[in-house]
Amino acid sequence: SLTFAGMGRRILLAAPRGFCAGVDRAIVTVERALEVYGPPIYVRKEIVHNKHVVRTLADCGVVFVDEVDEVPAGSVVVFSAHGVSPKVKQDARSQGLTAIDATCPLVTKVHQEVIRFARNGYQILLVGHEGHEEVEGTMGEAPDRVQLVDTAEDVGKVTVENPEKVIWLSQTTLSVDETMQRVDGLKERFSALADPPSSDICYATQNRQVAVKLLAPECELVLVVGSRNSSNSVRLVEVALQAGANAAHLIDSVSEIDPSWLDSVATIGLTSGASVPEVLVTEVVGFLAERGWPEPEEVVTAAERQVFALPRNLSQ
Ligand code: F3S
Repeated sequence: SLTFAGMGRRILLAAPRGFCAGVDRAIVTVERALEVYGPPIYVRKEIVHNKHVVRTLADCGVVFVDEVDEVPAGSVVVFSAHGVSPKVKQDARSQGLTAIDATCPLVTKVHQEVIRFARNGYQILLVGHEGHEEVEGTMGEAPDRVQLVDTAEDVGKVTVENPEKVIWLSQTTLSVDETMQRVDGLKERFSALADPPSSDICYATQNRQVAVKLLAPECELVLVVGSRNSSNSVRLVEVALQAGANAAHLIDSVSEIDPSWLDSVATIGLTSGASVPEVLVTEVVGFLAERGWPEPEEVVTAAERQVFALPRNLSQ
């Protein structure tokens, strides 16, 4: 037929997408540490959960380690955006390391809530994903006072001494809807369960979910750029499917697109997680353009102006 190949096709590009203020700050912190102290700079865990970011920094002389005991005495170690328990800070000190803390201020906020409510005699039910680094750091602030609620089964398993003194808090990068399901379940068991003073799910996580939710019902396919271990990126895939996308895939980069996904698709939704550099999204748009797809249309649901100052020992 003579039908123009691109006719009727659309790409809906979510906004906001990509870098949040906490990720931006964490990456700039490492770059600045490289300038100030020179390589090697050590980073405990992935500075943010993105392969491309980690590889790029490793090429500049950053050494990623799992624990601070792998760092030679006298070196500089950066703590990742996901935060660390007090024990990790203590270990770094006792090993004679110079520590720079790139924990996102919105994660630190949750740590401070844990400290405050534990001190006031509360038991804390932390909604979050088992094994995630942020959860390990947050629970470490008061290990005896915090219980993790991950799955629906966990709701029935937690035990509370005084049901009048119990509060729920959460990881910053959860699905808003799924979290409220857990909380509703918990409130059926503990009617006096207190809410966090303000949402622990951060503005960036919420905004990216709202944007993908709006475009997903119009899409046969949603592509989410992000790494497998990125909590907020994985949530975007789930939210897209729940909101009515026929299919949704998490891709680390354009090379992971299976061209058969595009068969008989007219509308593609595109977004990226909070740790994803925009260049990776641009590459996806370029790949689609080569196959006759038009320029993307942005679906804007919020404007973000959040900026965080660098850690104190680097900001001068
Ligand atoms: Fe911070 Fe939220 Fe980003 S907790 S690192 S602003 S995803």
